[in-house]
Amino acid sequence: MKEDFLKYQAQTSPYPLALQISHAKGSYIYDTDGKAHLDFVAGVSACSLGHCHPKVVEAVQKQAETYMHVMVYGEYVQEPAVAYTKLLASLLPPSLETTYMVNSGTEAVEGALKLARRATGRSQLLAARHAYHGNTMGSLSVMGYEERKSAFRPLIPDVGFIRFNNQDDLEKITDKTAAVILETIQGGAGFIEPTNGYLKKVRQRCNATGTMLILDEIQPGFGRTGKLFAFEHYDCVPDILVMGKGMASGLPVGAFTASNELMSTLQDSPKLGHITTFGGNPVIASACLATLKEITETQLIADTLKKEALVRKLLKHRLIREVRGKGLMLALIMENAEIANHVILECAKRGLILFWLLFEPRAVRISPPLTMSAEEIESGCGIILEVLEGYKQ
Ligand SMILES: Cc1ncc(COP(=O)(O)O)c(C=O)c1O
Repeated sequence: MKEDFLKYQAQTSPYPLALQISHAKGSYIYDTDGKAHLDFVAGVSACSLGHCHPKVVEAVQKQAETYMHVMVYGEYVQEPAVAYTKLLASLLPPSLETTYMVNSGTEAVEGALKLARRATGRSQLLAARHAYHGNTMGSLSVMGYEERKSAFRPLIPDVGFIRFNNQDDLEKITDKTAAVILETIQGGAGFIEPTNGYLKKVRQRCNATGTMLILDEIQPGFGRTGKLFAFEHYDCVPDILVMGKGMASGLPVGAFTASNELMSTLQDSPKLGHITTFGGNPVIASACLATLKEITETQLIADTLKKEALVRKLLKHRLIREVRGKGLMLALIMENAEIANHVILECAKRGLILFWLLFEPRAVRISPPLTMSAEEIESGCGIILEVLEGYKQ
């Protein structure tokens, strides 16, 4: 099967991990040899409720038996997406009332960028250095990492960059700027939090210049950082909120949310300003609804901060320079990239799944399911410490 995987499935790197999957349940993925792997990555922050959470599975099965796809986005009234977007609105500030559901994070970013241009009539987009927003042409254009973009130029025009957490650069936001797009906590860059009231200052500058503030919460959203959305930590409400990943606990989805007034600009001039066949798909929306209910009706979000404290307490070692991030969006910053690679690959052999971050080679990602137990966290951290102890410099 591995040979067929390498031959018939398009590859993204010369060195895929190529773990052969049998099934997955809770915090574990089982390979075809029957070995259990403790999952400290959760499909890169997507499996918020772990693998095959019974409530999500039940919701998906029930909806799949009822109807799966009946019409393109926006025409028919389909209960799962209506119930979901209504519940989401009840949990967000009043200005974030109306949601457009799409099929992936990058698509949600595309929709948000289009909405900002349409609503302001301006073209300039500003993003942060080392930002990651996805891989389609618009998202790629606002990626703050030239090495990953240059082969695909020309990208969309009128895009500029500011330094994340740098207040002097806020002067670049002017009355020509349609939108500033930022990750609330930078992911690929190394799990970098906004500091010194940065997001509030971005908000103020956007207010002063009539610029839309787009916050990309595709990774930190849905409880991962100890709040439903990370912007709640920083007292800054965006004009457009972008989400995905953990939203459906493992099914493909994305969405962008704005005020009803703002979102309504996609209805005319041109009409059908953004359309999609599968956005709001009822099976996916059922998974979203079951996930959101479980996250918000249990202690999971509050427990995330206790689990963060546990990881920070356990993972103290001379080779770990720093533990970055918030909640269960954490990264170990090692002394160098070689140690990070060693930890990830050696832990994999011992049944613990870890992963890299895109633009920070010294980082080891820890983003387990929010449902992971304290005992499982202790066991995984124990494996990391064992591997670090065995590391020969
Ligand atoms: C912050 C952020 N934005 C956008 C994306 C793109 O999402 P997707 O891979 O679903 O297109 C990701 C995915 O890693 C992300 O972490």
